[in-house]
Amino acid sequence: MAILLPGGAGFIGSHTAVELLNAGKEIIILDNFSNSKPEAITAIKEITGKDFKFYEIDYTDREKLESIFESNNIEAVINFAGYKAVGESVQKPIEYYTNNISGALVLLDTMRKYGCKKFIFSSSATVYGEPQKMPITEEFETGGTTNPYGTTKLFIEQILKDIYKSDNDWDICILRYFNPVGAHKSGLIGEEPKGIPNNLMPYVSRVAAGVLQELSIFGNDYNTPDGTGVRDYIHVVDLAKGHEKALQKLEKEETGLYIYNLGTGTGYSVLDMVHAFEKSTGKKVPYKIAPRRAGDIAMCYADPKKAKEELGWEATKTLEDMCRDSWNYTKSQMIN
Ligand code: WQD
Repeated sequence: MAILLPGGAGFIGSHTAVELLNAGKEIIILDNFSNSKPEAITAIKEITGKDFKFYEIDYTDREKLESIFESNNIEAVINFAGYKAVGESVQKPIEYYTNNISGALVLLDTMRKYGCKKFIFSSSATVYGEPQKMPITEEFETGGTTNPYGTTKLFIEQILKDIYKSDNDWDICILRYFNPVGAHKSGLIGEEPKGIPNNLMPYVSRVAAGVLQELSIFGNDYNTPDGTGVRDYIHVVDLAKGHEKALQKLEKEETGLYIYNLGTGTGYSVLDMVHAFEKSTGKKVPYKIAPRRAGDIAMCYADPKKAKEELGWEATKTLEDMCRDSWNYTKSQMIN
């Protein structure tokens, strides 16, 4: 029985593929490389020394998807095939709603047709909108998303809840990621944003590499210890292991719909990140204070207790690991 990973060549998908292969799982990756590269497939094989099936298809292509289910024995699906750029989603809402929501529906409908009902979904802390207190537990109200990307996550969560309500044979796990950063220690897979990065860590790495001149810190007048935004940064390898634990739960226990925060539980400010990066890499990160970015919130960090208690999962990597591994990957990309 295989685990299907649509979008498995991307940032979080490729790291999860490595963890699943290392845990002895059979996987199948499908990807159209719209936001990833074929080299990721070779890298996953090189890191793990294991082979797996790969299909270059768009996961919204029902016919091709069906033929993959027809010719393989698929036990569960972990869907990484969503578009994820917040700013781009504001410019291209139709593309985002089509790829993320219609794509998920095609996938879920195909799964139902072939009797495969174990599904793990990559959701995001963004579904909590602007929470009034910290840390964020899974019981917090969702809604109030400020961009189409976040709204696709919110809508798909609702779709999954409705599907489970209609048929309790489904076994669904929604994972709400906080801020994924870092890369595999080999430096062979990591995050490769197209163009100028929007997210903090890839931006900082490019400033350190001299590719970008300086970091703009978006606001230093938030109600946080040093005035800059606070987030729960989580190493992508920890995050990947969370998927393996979620899969174990779906394989072992009775069916259900489960929701977990995947974060460390610790919030770091933008300035904390800059200083940690400089310390662990020895590189200077010049910065200036700029106006607040529209749509940003002051603080966002998880209460990860539920995942610890129910999945036996906990983030173990430090801020230093995150900075070092992000830098290691960026460096390898800049040199090649
Ligand atoms: C982090 C902090 C910025 C860039 C977004 C999505 C979320 C998730 C992860 C995933 C904030 C500050 C940033 C810069 C800065 N999506 N910053 N200068 O906004 O928490 O979350 O990415 O795919 O859904 O909303 O992450 O990394 O953009 O920002 O000062 O150049 O860094 O203001 O405080 P964010 P981020």
